[in-house]
Parts: sequence; structure tokens; C-alpha cells
Amino acid sequence: MDTILEIKNLSFGYNDKLILDNINFEIKSGDYIGIVGPNGSGKSTLLKIVLGLLKPTKGSIKLFGQPMDSFKDWGKIGYVAQKAASFNTSFPATVEEVVAANLYPQLGLFKRIKKYHMEKVYEALELVGMKEYSKRLIGNLSGGQQQRVFIARTLVSSPQIIFLDEPTVGIDIQSQDNFYELLKNLNENMHITIVMISHDIGVITEKANRVACMGEKKLIVHDMNSNVPISKILSEVYGEKMNLLDHHH
Ligand SMILES: Nc1ncnc2c1ncn2[C@@H]1O[C@H](COP(=O)(O)OP(=O)(O)OP(=O)(O)O)[C@@H](O)[C@H]1O
Ligand SMILES: [Mg+2]
Repeated sequence: MDTILEIKNLSFGYNDKLILDNINFEIKSGDYIGIVGPNGSGKSTLLKIVLGLLKPTKGSIKLFGQPMDSFKDWGKIGYVAQKAASFNTSFPATVEEVVAANLYPQLGLFKRIKKYHMEKVYEALELVGMKEYSKRLIGNLSGGQQQRVFIARTLVSSPQIIFLDEPTVGIDIQSQDNFYELLKNLNENMHITIVMISHDIGVITEKANRVACMGEKKLIVHDMNSNVPISKILSEVYGEKMNLLDHHH
């Protein structure tokens, strides 16, 4: 299997506060990775570093075998940010415009969107169940509907790997099920590598083939096919809080 992402001896801090301490992690083509961990443990930060939005203090990152500094193929990488959907109601763009905008990096700034590209836009909207909203203004949709449009926006550029930061926050249970079905389809049938941060440990342990647990500035990676129960690692990361979680379910 091809290695898509290779993180070696990665450390990072905001100002002087260390958030990630000597992290090593590899993502292979076809992986479905779940990233879990308490609030403030550094999950979003790790994603932002991998996406080149933050510079690591120490260590090296390779994307598709290339050192990050010389990596140019960003179209291969999709990203749905935490709380991506929080649009001002007066934002003057339609759903299809928001999705099509993510095609411009491929098209070049002055090339016109052709019929073929609009078909890709509608295909992506269809996948997330938002095709009939194409002409609506993005600002007039509900938060969950906006979130789905953002996922379509990521899909339209045909990425090979998609990073999602808590994508189902604010989405109702039925739509969450559809969404996880969609991710499964992307992963199994379209061979897109999935990396998802989520607090829904039940879903993550069910869907992902590997789970990365963030805690105490360290990352513990668990293979769901191994014989070790994941609860061991989760209680290491969450401590007492994990017992509280158990009570709730
Ligand atoms: N821009 C910033 N400047 C300074 N500190 C920051 C910044 N962004 C995040 N932090 C701090 O870094 C730590 C890690 O934040 P991060 O957003 O990566 O956590 P997280 O694991 O994604 O949490 P959550 O589950 O709440 O989304 C937190 O203590 C946070 O307060
Ligand atoms: Mg976060």
C-alpha cells in the first residue's frame, strides 16, 4: 500500500506552549482513520500542520512521498474544517457557486466553468443529498445543510484523501447515518482515504480501520484489527473521563 502521509518526530507549540511532542504517524492509501481525544488535546492543530496551515517546530512531514516544503499537488487533498458551516445569512453565493469555486484551482483563474464541470458539481451535491438546493443562497440554509454543501465542495475536486474535522456536529441523527454511509462509499468504492476527527467514539471504533488517540501531547495509534481492546488505550488518553462516558452509554 502506498504511504500518503508520513509524520516523523513532529513537535509543535503555540508560542511557548508545547501541544504536540514528538509525534510519529503514517497514513496509507485506503485507510479510514479516526482521530479522537479530549478537547484541547491538539487534534485540529495536528490537521492544520499536515495541511500546511501551521509550521511545525520540529520534525518532518511527507505528503504522497514528497517533503511538505516542495509538495504542490494540493488538489489531491480535501479538507473540511471544524465548524466550516457558519455562514452569514447575507453571503451572496448560491450552493452551486460555493461548490464550483473549489474547481477553480484546477481550471486556472480565467477559465470558464464548462458544462462538464457543472455536471461534477451536481454529482457532488447529489452524493450529499443537496442537489435540489443548487440555486439556493448558502446563507439561507440550515447549519447541517451548509455542512453537507461543504463536503460536496471538497468532493468536487476529486481528492485522494479527505481530512474532516468534526464533520457531523450540528447534523441530525438520520443525516449523520447517511453521511457515514457516504464516507464508507467513498472509502470502499472510490478508494478515497479518510481521516476524520470526531468525539463520537462509538462511530469511530466501528467505521475506522485505525484509530489515533491524542492525549498528553502524544498520539497513540490503534489498529482495530489487533487483539488489544481499544478501551485500554482510550482510558489511557481520557483517564477518568472515559469512565464517565461509559456510564452514559
Ligand atoms: N491559534 C492559537 N493560538 C494559541 N493557542 C491555540 C491556538 N489554537 C489552539 N490553541 C490551543 O492549543 C490547544 C490545542 O487546540 P486544538 O484546537 O488543536 O484542540 P482539539 O483537540 O482540536 O480540541 P477540540 O476537541 O475542542 O476541537 C488548546 O489548548 C488550544 O487552546
Ligand atoms: Mg478541534
